Amino acid sequence: MTTAATQTSTTINSDPLTLIDVDHVRFYVGNAKQAAYFYAHTFGFRIDQVADLTTGSREEADYLLTQGNIRILLTTPLNKDHPAAEEIKLYGDGIKEVALTVEDATAAYNKAISNGAECAQAPRTLKDEKGTVTVASIKIYGRVIHTFVSRTGEYNHENLRKGGPFMPNFKKVESELNTYNEQNPCGLMYCDHFVGNVEEGKMDYWVKWYENVMGFEMFKHFDDNDISTEYSALMSKVMASGNNLIKMPINEPADGVKKSQILEYLEWHNMTPGVQHLAFRTDDGLKTVAELRRRGVDFLSMPDTYYELVWDRVERMLKEHGHEGVKEDHQRIKDLGILVDADDEGYLLQLFTKPLQDRPTFFIEIICRRGSQSFGKGNFKALFESLELEQERRGNL
Ligand code: FE2
Repeated sequence: MTTAATQTSTTINSDPLTLIDVDHVRFYVGNAKQAAYFYAHTFGFRIDQVADLTTGSREEADYLLTQGNIRILLTTPLNKDHPAAEEIKLYGDGIKEVALTVEDATAAYNKAISNGAECAQAPRTLKDEKGTVTVASIKIYGRVIHTFVSRTGEYNHENLRKGGPFMPNFKKVESELNTYNEQNPCGLMYCDHFVGNVEEGKMDYWVKWYENVMGFEMFKHFDDNDISTEYSALMSKVMASGNNLIKMPINEPADGVKKSQILEYLEWHNMTPGVQHLAFRTDDGLKTVAELRRRGVDFLSMPDTYYELVWDRVERMLKEHGHEGVKEDHQRIKDLGILVDADDEGYLLQLFTKPLQDRPTFFIEIICRRGSQSFGKGNFKALFESLELEQERRGNL
């Protein structure tokens, strides 16, 4: 009796929007089979499970890629009427869904809807003899959705993290490439943050939306002066879940003499907001970047002047706040083209890829934190100068 009463009160008291994990990140892509090989070869992902015609999936093919606690789902439509077909036409390859593990997906969905969210897909439960997976989706900015996911039986979250089954109709994949990636790890651990690009004047709307609907709070705030160059500008605010499990910076374009990189993104994304980049966390930035470079990942390069200025800036900041200096070999950081930034809590190493498809839209960031919990504000100026050079080469400035 006591147990039942305790359970009831726990259920009533716990917020259904409490997030347990980033369940997976779904990309809509034109050719999931080939995209899976790209991410496996260049970023070292394991092609772990597949749902396609051979498993009875006749509408779409899905490839689950895994590394550390990262799960990427690549989805490609198998017919012209699949909603992904239209989205790929409009936006090219990119992130469709940021899925969040919760205790009860239906309860989380209902709470979000009552908080003002718009339905993308009502709750439904997929089941087989192994257990159940319940999914329910709400719209966020532009073409992106959040899906709440809750799991039972062999599909449970702990089991999934250990390589257990993802959802009904998926089959496990064994390959020499998977073995190779196990033996040559890239060290990516989990999703550190997701950055959304929204239309000019809409950043504050989405800040409020995350506060009201998801119960997120503002994490850091950069004002326009901090992160603009003379020519291209943006504004950014970072929203974080209560437990800081997920951080979602939101960018909007700001006026500049030349075209903002956010505006460039929107123009190549059918003027529709979307995820601009996804940052993967590593604990060994040098080893990760060296391995990714060896595998052919194409990173943005910094102006030569960057390394003439960076050590003074970073070491001064660390000293001011009583922290040790950057422990990694400085020359090796420079040789690998890694960026460094510091704040009052410590420093970070980070690096950005070039866009991963022909449209200048989605890219990936690699981030290694040594105390710093920010996003590399000091690198923004250097980054934008480098981005502008790339933009100029594409004739989009
Ligand atoms: Fe970032």
